[in-house]
Amino acid sequence: MHFKALRIDQHNSGILAQYQQMSVDELTAGEVLIRVEYSSINYKDALAATGAGQILRRFPLNGGIDLAGKIEHSTVPQFTQGQSVVVTGSGLSETLDGGYAEFARVPASAVIIIPEGLSALDVMTLGTAGFTAALAIHRIEHNGLNPEQGEVFVSGASGGVGSLAINMLVDRGYAVTALTGRDSQREYLQQLGAQQVLLRQNLSLTTLPLEKARFAAAIDNVGGELLSWLIRSLRNQGSVASIGLTGGSDVHTSVMPFILRGVNVLGINSAATPRPLRETVWQRIATDLKPSKLDATRTRIVEFDQLLDVFPEYLHNRVHGRTVVRISH
Ligand SMILES: NC(=O)c1ccc[n+]([C@@H]2O[C@H](COP(=O)([O-])OP(=O)(O)OC[C@H]3O[C@@H](n4cnc5c(N)ncnc54)[C@H](OP(=O)(O)O)[C@@H]3O)[C@@H](O)[C@H]2O)c1
Repeated sequence: MHFKALRIDQHNSGILAQYQQMSVDELTAGEVLIRVEYSSINYKDALAATGAGQILRRFPLNGGIDLAGKIEHSTVPQFTQGQSVVVTGSGLSETLDGGYAEFARVPASAVIIIPEGLSALDVMTLGTAGFTAALAIHRIEHNGLNPEQGEVFVSGASGGVGSLAINMLVDRGYAVTALTGRDSQREYLQQLGAQQVLLRQNLSLTTLPLEKARFAAAIDNVGGELLSWLIRSLRNQGSVASIGLTGGSDVHTSVMPFILRGVNVLGINSAATPRPLRETVWQRIATDLKPSKLDATRTRIVEFDQLLDVFPEYLHNRVHGRTVVRISH
């Protein structure tokens, strides 16, 4: 049986992503064969397919760090044919063939049965972005955050992680301050419930060893100087979840925020989340962290064969919210 895949390979000194026909035997090894229904686009997928970032650790591989679909075959007894499942991260499009293919074969340890109350379309509207937003909130709350403690700051607000984090936080009663680089996204962010929307260009990142203690917590998708400033701007015992690096990877800080305010920096690595925590977070996404405006964050559904046209938009920050990819009908 042959099927279509978007395969990424090295080409001359760069990267080439192209549609190919392949067979199940050519897929990377795993106990569970999944017929993929939907995938999604994350910033990382655009980096992988265009070569703008080094994501794949072996070549060639099918792209797509997320997938949802139905089990076609399993060699382990805990899964059976026809079950609806989701896989995010877990090595997809890094060391394993990913979700941009009509079939994927993955290790059983990466497969999560879609919790009741969510559909395949829902879980790909969430995808790695939504899982990461929920994981960050889970970790910050585990460190003591509750809505009485004050404002939560979300950067990269109109992106996938940012949009879903805002929706989840607001639903739980938090007051959210959103930071965006685009004034055109103000209305979208207010619709998601952000109480205050700040423009990145207007934010002056002063460099005092300790800034005014303003935020109870922060979810940061930007990194660099902004993350340094956030560490200095957290209240006593505040936490920042460091997720992304769209604004830079270097962080300079003194120890003052840590030893004088007890500030926590929580590193988030969604792709390598251990299975028990992964299950806990998906359960929360289906229940107390289920975003009430999920449909509004799904800004479009693209067809499988349109993928190559869409990736550059991510690199030039011309998209907002989440893009779902329809792999098979
Ligand atoms: N650690 C993890 O496990 C994990 C998981 C998922 C994602 N990530 C990372 O988290 C980040 C966000 O992911 P995503 O899926 O939400 O990506 P996305 O949908 O592409 O959104 C990224 C957002 O970042 C902002 N941005 C873009 N360029 C920027 C720049 N030069 N400076 C500052 N802000 C900029 C934009 O928001 P505004 O226009 O509103 O400012 C953009 O919408 C990425 O770096 C991604 O690789 C990490």
